[in-house]
Amino acid sequence: MGNQRGVASRRMAWSILGLMGGWCILGGGCGLLDRGVLVIAHRGDSGRYPENTLASFRGGLDARADMIELDARVTKDGVLIVMHDETLGRTTSASDVLGAGEHRVDQIDSVALAELDAGSWKDSSFAGEGVPTLGEAVALITAGATVLVERKSGSPQRYADSLRAMGRIGGIVVQSFDWAFLAALRIELPRLRLAGLGDGEVTLGRINALSAMRAVAAAWNHEDLDERAVRRFHDAGIIVWAYTVNRPRDWDRLCRIGVDGIITDHPATCRAWLESRGCR
Ligand code: G3P
Ligand code: CA
Repeated sequence: MGNQRGVASRRMAWSILGLMGGWCILGGGCGLLDRGVLVIAHRGDSGRYPENTLASFRGGLDARADMIELDARVTKDGVLIVMHDETLGRTTSASDVLGAGEHRVDQIDSVALAELDAGSWKDSSFAGEGVPTLGEAVALITAGATVLVERKSGSPQRYADSLRAMGRIGGIVVQSFDWAFLAALRIELPRLRLAGLGDGEVTLGRINALSAMRAVAAAWNHEDLDERAVRRFHDAGIIVWAYTVNRPRDWDRLCRIGVDGIITDHPATCRAWLESRGCR
């Protein structure tokens, strides 16, 4: 029963979006009413591959994720690259190459960054994986999935210029916890799809803020979502993606309360599980 209610509410939300803007999340078609809960690969297939690398994005495509999430930052010389952390230590060979100490993404040039190994920390078999530029990641992912770009740093103007130059705005959604950034980006790119990242209570003020910037989705901490919260978003024509969800018991609950997408480190397992339970 819960699942049926979830499917009905998802269909309503997608229908609203279709009526409002002819919006289709995948550049290739509008068959999402039949897709059910979308699988969104978090930092690529980051359970199996080094996060935010081209290997991880290929893994997400192999897992047939509907969307692939990544984190974008700006380097010292103004290039948008793909990395979660502010500093390079956790996921690259920076300390070997540049010496001990903290190395910040915004203090390194893109040419020096390209020399770093971003795969070995996960497993020696991934040695040689580099830090992708946003352009490289978008070019790879849009061949088979929609890109969910999370802005970690960089100005609205920087993103607008880069996304325009890539010429693939139809295959991209930009999300951020910084809603002032999103509102500014909306002015730069009126047709770009935006998603507001958030957590906590789903208040009318937050819904109105997302509606004012014409956000298509709310990407919300799954622990703060219940059926009422999802319904409030849907009633405003905003679809709901839950982050970051790696356990079947949570996938089950989210499917029942009617979320439209699940952001997960394990896209292949999640997809198979959702299919086996009739959630997609
Ligand atoms: O997509 C949601 C999620 O990526 C936000 O958290 O820290 O993994 O970037 P974080
Ligand atoms: Ca992220």
